[in-house]
Amino acid sequence: MKYKKYFRKTSIKKKVIGNLFLEEIQKKNPKKFLEIGIFHGVTARNVCDLMYKNHGFEFQYTGIDIFDEGVEVKNEVVPSYKFNNPLKTIYFKYFKRLNPYSVKAVEDLLKKYKKNINIIKGNTNTVLKDLNLSDVDYIFIDGGHDYNTVKNDLECSKKFLSKDGVILCDDYDLTYAPGVKKAIDEFVAANNCKHQIILERFAKIEF
Ligand SMILES: C[S@@+](CC[C@H](N)C(=O)[O-])C[C@H]1O[C@@H](n2cnc3c(N)ncnc32)[C@H](O)[C@@H]1O
Repeated sequence: MKYKKYFRKTSIKKKVIGNLFLEEIQKKNPKKFLEIGIFHGVTARNVCDLMYKNHGFEFQYTGIDIFDEGVEVKNEVVPSYKFNNPLKTIYFKYFKRLNPYSVKAVEDLLKKYKKNINIIKGNTNTVLKDLNLSDVDYIFIDGGHDYNTVKNDLECSKKFLSKDGVILCDDYDLTYAPGVKKAIDEFVAANNCKHQIILERFAKIEF
């Protein structure tokens, strides 16, 4: 399957990386997926398309995002919400009448799968501990980049994962966000996990 951008922004900017990312997910063929950090929902849509192709409507996608441009999160690398392409700004402002970085816009992008998705607005540092999820096959961590946030995301994710599930973390070795690598390295050592860096940006963790 090819990674599509759906006229929105995503952290997976190069299509070739997107395609390889989907190939990596396909290897596990998940039916239950959790994404931490949804942003405009581009990866969410691609992953739902992949699971639909493999399993029809027999899949579950859960995504969490803080969805708040006004919030200044301490030690956080905040993605740019503005489009470089003015046509995209016009499309969302006057045609869709939606903020692309919102629960509503993500639900709109995923409307074909409305019975299969759960989009949660909240900070993972507070919502994950109360989230009732189990037997998740695949978890993509691409949310906050602060050390404590990644540490919390990893520790909570471990509880949701199926026995042979996979955690894939984006932005493993960013010079401007060293907390991501630190939290992953400590987690891998403490849990004695298998750990592989793929496409020079994703850390794949297996137990
Ligand atoms: C890099 S973007 C995610 C991109 C998306 N996964 C994709 O592939 O297009 C990171 C997202 O994490 C969210 N985020 C940052 N800190 C967070 C936190 N503590 N809890 C929940 N979401 C958070 C931001 O709002 C942002 O939308």
